Amino acid sequence: MTAPMVDLSIHHQPRGLSDRVAFGFTKVLRWCADTFFARRYGHRAVVLETVAAVPGMVGATINHLHALRRMRDDRGWIRTLMDEAENERMHLMTFIEVSQPTLFERMVIIAVQWVFYVGFFVLYLASPRTAHRVVGYFEEEAVISYTHYLAEIDEGRSANVPAPAIARAYWGLPDDATLRDVVLVVRADEAHHRDVNHSFANELADLPTQAVAECPPHRSLEPIWKHAA
Ligand SMILES: [Fe+2]
Ligand SMILES: [Fe+2]
Repeated sequence: MTAPMVDLSIHHQPRGLSDRVAFGFTKVLRWCADTFFARRYGHRAVVLETVAAVPGMVGATINHLHALRRMRDDRGWIRTLMDEAENERMHLMTFIEVSQPTLFERMVIIAVQWVFYVGFFVLYLASPRTAHRVVGYFEEEAVISYTHYLAEIDEGRSANVPAPAIARAYWGLPDDATLRDVVLVVRADEAHHRDVNHSFANELADLPTQAVAECPPHRSLEPIWKHAA
């Protein structure tokens, strides 16, 4: 399998107040995450993926309600955002096989979910453009963090354990795939979300949309009635 390539240099230069607020907010949260987790990348991945799976579902919900109210087509945004939420949830299901959160981290996850879900919902209602820009910047940081995680594995500070079965099934990885292969596909997913969200923000700001990095192929999750057969 060839490793998915990711353009690490992509950064949306903040323009105007909305972008600056989104960028500043992201940098504050980055500082908090760096302080809290330091180099515990497995724990960092688990806790932050519980947050990363929220915005797509919020954006999908609000766009869905908007389409119903206005009786207008969504131009594929709802499906795109729901796919993002599902993909982020699969990151969580993968990393929970690698690292288990501490009791304190579980408490943080619960508290953060309350605050972040409600806060992001209100932000999306007030300014969808800022909300998508926030996610674009979060994903820029995710790409950086997973690049650090790769270095951690390559330099032997994190064991390159076998890839969890759920990750092999979801991304169609070979039987001998390792954590390193998983981090590579996850990072490529994050680059895809980064570009999608910056593009959505650009569209809402009447700026030219940008190229979107491909996400690595993965299986879509089957509805439960298919499992029952
Ligand atoms: Fe993720
Ligand atoms: Fe992400």
